[in-house]
Amino acid sequence: MKVLVLMGSPRKGNTFRACEEFREHLQKICPTEFEYAWLKDAHIDPCKGCMVCFSRGEEKCPSHDDDVHCIVQKMLAADGVIFASPVYSINVSGLMKNFIDRISYIGHRPRFFGKPAFFLVTAGIIGTDETLEYLKIITWAWGFECAGTAGLISQFGPVPRERAETNKKQLRDGAERFSLALLRTGPESPGLKRVLHFYGMRPTFTELEKISPADFRYWKDHGWLSPDVQYFMDVPLNPLYLAIGKMVEMLARRQVRKDLIQPADGPG
Ligand SMILES: Cc1cc2nc3c(=O)[nH]c(=O)nc-3n(C[C@H](O)[C@H](O)[C@H](O)COP(=O)(O)O)c2cc1C
Repeated sequence: MKVLVLMGSPRKGNTFRACEEFREHLQKICPTEFEYAWLKDAHIDPCKGCMVCFSRGEEKCPSHDDDVHCIVQKMLAADGVIFASPVYSINVSGLMKNFIDRISYIGHRPRFFGKPAFFLVTAGIIGTDETLEYLKIITWAWGFECAGTAGLISQFGPVPRERAETNKKQLRDGAERFSLALLRTGPESPGLKRVLHFYGMRPTFTELEKISPADFRYWKDHGWLSPDVQYFMDVPLNPLYLAIGKMVEMLARRQVRKDLIQPADGPG
């Protein structure tokens, strides 16, 4: 099993030490090869805001030759990914946020279905819940499956015994949950939210051939625009979820057509 740690800390501090403790627990349960992708050492230009990745494709990004593409390949090759970041101003670090912005197009062209993700953040005192929630929302849209979280508190120094125990327990229990997701064979039948993800997005991308050809092409190349295709992957679907999804698709298609014909005034 290959696990990639996407490391958003600029130093070998609390976040790294927590990841190493997590690794020790995990490796006791299942054989795993750990690789760290240190964002601090990677060449990652800030997003220029041109939105070319969304409309024309990531390969047309003015910064396409930096290290972002290579890290995405490592994420695709891994059996699971750990998103690790210190909490900065109640969110992920700038290093992590910059990387997330650079691959925002994956929210339109998801590619990590069935891949487990673990979220590990460390904070002095506050902001772990908000930061974990943010990471879960973003990576869910990329297709990742949340397989556990750990929000650890350092209190900017030696922590009281009770706090240390809580931190350790999160890492131990988290490693156990993540190992179960890594060892599972085959994707699970999706829940209603995931099914609605597919049927809510499909009408948008069906209609966007001219406005956003890269999104249209990606969905078409994956076969997702075909009416016979019922979901991102070939997995058993709950018939009730499917019926709700199709209804949502019909309503969304009507709305998208209306919006595209009569776009509202405002910033484009
Ligand atoms: C710029 C910056 C912003 C921070 N913001 C927060 C914060 O909002 N809440 C908090 O509890 N700790 C905050 N901290 C403390 C770090 O989250 C905490 O010390 C973390 O464990 C550091 O991880 P590291 O050792 O991997 O760098 C901040 C630290 C820095 C450097």
